[in-house]
Amino acid sequence: MTQRSSIDSSAAWRALSAHRTSFAGTTLNDLFAADPARGERCHATAAGIYLDYSKNHCTDTTLGLLEELAATAELPRQLAALFAGAPVNRSEQRAALHPALRGVAPDAAIGREMEQSRARMLALAQALRAGEIRGATGQVITDLVHLGIGGSDLGPRLVVSAFPERCAVSPRVHFAANLDSSALAGVLSRCVPATTVFVLASKSFSTLETLSNADLAQRWLRAGGITDIGKHCVAITSKPERARAWGIDDDRILTLGEWIGGRYSLWSAMGFPVAVALGPDIFTELLAGAQAMDQHFRTASLRTNLPMLHGLLSVWQINFWHHGTRAVLPYVHGLRHLPDYLQQLMMESLGKRVAQDGSELAFQTGAIIWGSEETNGQHSFHQLLLQGTQTVPADFIVTATPHCDAEQHRLLYANCLAQSRTLMMGQDRAALEKELLAAGHSGAEAAFLARHREVPGDRPSNTLVLAAHEPACLGALLALYEHSVYVQSVIWGINAFDQWGVELGKQAASAIGAALAGADASAYDSSTRALMARWNSAGSCSD
Ligand code: F6P
Repeated sequence: MTQRSSIDSSAAWRALSAHRTSFAGTTLNDLFAADPARGERCHATAAGIYLDYSKNHCTDTTLGLLEELAATAELPRQLAALFAGAPVNRSEQRAALHPALRGVAPDAAIGREMEQSRARMLALAQALRAGEIRGATGQVITDLVHLGIGGSDLGPRLVVSAFPERCAVSPRVHFAANLDSSALAGVLSRCVPATTVFVLASKSFSTLETLSNADLAQRWLRAGGITDIGKHCVAITSKPERARAWGIDDDRILTLGEWIGGRYSLWSAMGFPVAVALGPDIFTELLAGAQAMDQHFRTASLRTNLPMLHGLLSVWQINFWHHGTRAVLPYVHGLRHLPDYLQQLMMESLGKRVAQDGSELAFQTGAIIWGSEETNGQHSFHQLLLQGTQTVPADFIVTATPHCDAEQHRLLYANCLAQSRTLMMGQDRAALEKELLAAGHSGAEAAFLARHREVPGDRPSNTLVLAAHEPACLGALLALYEHSVYVQSVIWGINAFDQWGVELGKQAASAIGAALAGADASAYDSSTRALMARWNSAGSCSD
């Protein structure tokens, strides 16, 4: 792959910088005043998702300059490379084949491997759902406990929790990720060893949290009189030899290729808990929705292309408006785990400081992604969004059709629109002052209160309206964000598919763990040594 000069030295980047300067003083309200039909123009629809980007500081000129930026970054070529299975993950010399999991693989052999893996996964899921899988004592399996973390947990957890009313009564599917064993203990308090199967979900089959929980699970099974552990375990991994060595039977090892990134693995055998809880058909619907978004991403022109619009406007906000964070605000209880999922997808993909060629970057990259289900957030952090000193671009997510009580859905929808509109419109201080005077406040009181009640407005947001809270729409939404991440990574010239940073923390934890168990700690800094000394130190919360 040819070495590309840094994007911030390009003419397109300089033109966007100049364009940003020209925006000085132009507010979102000005943009709507100049073009009242703006809201009818600045949207794009695909795969059951309507993206309204009109509440962004962008004009046709902006989009034209972002198109030039995309051309400078060779976005079309990089998009083709992704789908062609080129080594877009340069530091690990790998392709990123998550789209192939729901579409066509670039290589027939890999395609066959993916199809076989999916078929085995769906067959095992169906056998569990049909009660055909028995435990060591011959009893039907009633509970599946999924042990995984990060990309081996967040995707399946999000989808299973999104449609609780469609989950099978048996087996019940549970999740435990954390190294804190109270997470697993809480799950096991509701399970019985003879009717419980554990899923050891780890692409590397070497993640401390998952293997530690797996050991606890094994002890729990043995304590419950189960000696044939193999009948109570399934593995999902890229390292079948490690799963076999751990004691998993071959017919219970589901595999995914190394070319699937952990945070992109929901569509692979990692989706096993989804197929168990919701059934193979719903897993297939999820993939179909993602595939529809893939097709749209590959074929739609930039100005009608949802992932390209979302990704390029993110670059515009991060690099030219210096908004370093983004809130994800789903007005759907079933999507309450979406912010967690997107945190890993976007921050582990875009939290990079060097380009693919290793050169250090002189501009901001990945935004800090956070959020919560709504309307809960309105009673928690919206005060900062509305009157804080920082501008936080938000992605509002809502369903067009009721996924809950129709009257409550109407109120949810109204709140979603109200928040994005209020962030944009704000509340003018002078108008407030008049209101307060008319209400009988003195001039001084009115002036004082108006200063506190003024809402500055001019805060940008996207609104994504899902046709329905359905698996296909969720699949399309997740694929939209995957491709928006890829667009941003291409513009910045970074690798969206490695995560070297997290390795250092893992190594440090292992060494400090040894020190807590007695190894020499003298080389550590005084803070770490003092904190080590607090470990297991006597004391109470009232000290
Ligand atoms: O956080 C680092 C990471 O490797 C993630 O990328 C991954 O999703 C998670 O840990 C779990 O990894 P594994 O599936 O190999 O257990």
